[in-house]
Amino acid sequence: MRVVSGIQPTGNLHLGNYLGAIRNWVRMQDETDEDGQCLFFLADLHAISMPHEPAELCRATLEMAAALVACGIDPDRSVLFNQAQVPAHPELQWLLNGTARIGWLNRMTQFKDKSGKNREGASAALFTYPVLQAADVLLYQATHVPVGEDQKQHLELARDIAQKFNNDFASEDAPVFTLPEPISPPQAARIMSLRDGSKKMSKSDPSEMSRIDLADDPDTVLKKIKKAKTDPEPLPSEVEGLAQRPEALNLVTIYAALSESTVEDVLRDHGGAGFGAFKPALAELLVETLRPISTRFNALLDDREALDAILARGAARAREIAAPTLASAYSALGLVRG
Ligand code: TYM
Repeated sequence: MRVVSGIQPTGNLHLGNYLGAIRNWVRMQDETDEDGQCLFFLADLHAISMPHEPAELCRATLEMAAALVACGIDPDRSVLFNQAQVPAHPELQWLLNGTARIGWLNRMTQFKDKSGKNREGASAALFTYPVLQAADVLLYQATHVPVGEDQKQHLELARDIAQKFNNDFASEDAPVFTLPEPISPPQAARIMSLRDGSKKMSKSDPSEMSRIDLADDPDTVLKKIKKAKTDPEPLPSEVEGLAQRPEALNLVTIYAALSESTVEDVLRDHGGAGFGAFKPALAELLVETLRPISTRFNALLDDREALDAILARGAARAREIAAPTLASAYSALGLVRG
């Protein structure tokens, strides 16, 4: 088993990232004990696909590293690094650009969403972004990739690229790449905005009130949950009763994910309750979950040297693990390297 996943260091780590992906990273780390089985990285090379402020990217990269450690990623057990220190990522991306088809990239919904109406003005990096994402996981022979629902299409593409590369350039008994499996937690694969139940909770939403950041203090959490959009009906006792109520479903989903139960269980306990009673219960559960994380986060942020050292050590290990696969990919393509 080889677990690999990444997160973009843009903005703060939010509840959607945590419940949709990071909590699963920590679980998988705890289930594996061999050195080098879990690799987690900050996708800083992905972050330059959108307009960005250099000083802000640098700050956000270190903050995101601190946030991951605060959530329970242990740099002594997992390999924690940022892409920019491992040139094998963009190198393999270039090699895979020869295999990825324009038609496949044209189907990526994230490119359509992020480029919006100004497709001609989007960066080339935004278009080829999923090929870098494929390189990120194929480089390490990942078997499991813990992600939220929104990344599944990119993972499907990584599988297609791996399969075509193996078919075109490797023999059946010695494939160059392993086909990775995406893994999403069923209750929390998609956490929605607190202001609009049809949009995912996202770092790029201009409204702070749309998301819970993991570093939010208890008063902020309470305020954001109180102001979260809902409807005037009480909670139903059956899941079907949430069918046309996306905001209510989202709050119940968050409650279920935090309490490690199901939407059914939450409705069994809270069915009939109005939001006046449910929201404070949810806020309390959130505050309980976030308190230890934000305490650790703030302590880690004070030690820049320690964070630099963690990333440098992780990157050295990642370069070592990546080397044989990168060499096989060059050689399979017939590229002469002395
Ligand atoms: P990113 O940085 O947008 O998000 C990091 C992880 O959080 C999940 N996530 C969510 N899950 C549930 N509900 C939400 N509202 C929500 N918002 C985000 C994402 O699915 C993701 O798992 N392209 C990736 C980063 C990446 C990557 C990779 C991931 C680069 N290379 C290789 C896996 C493997 C991204 O932008 O995720």
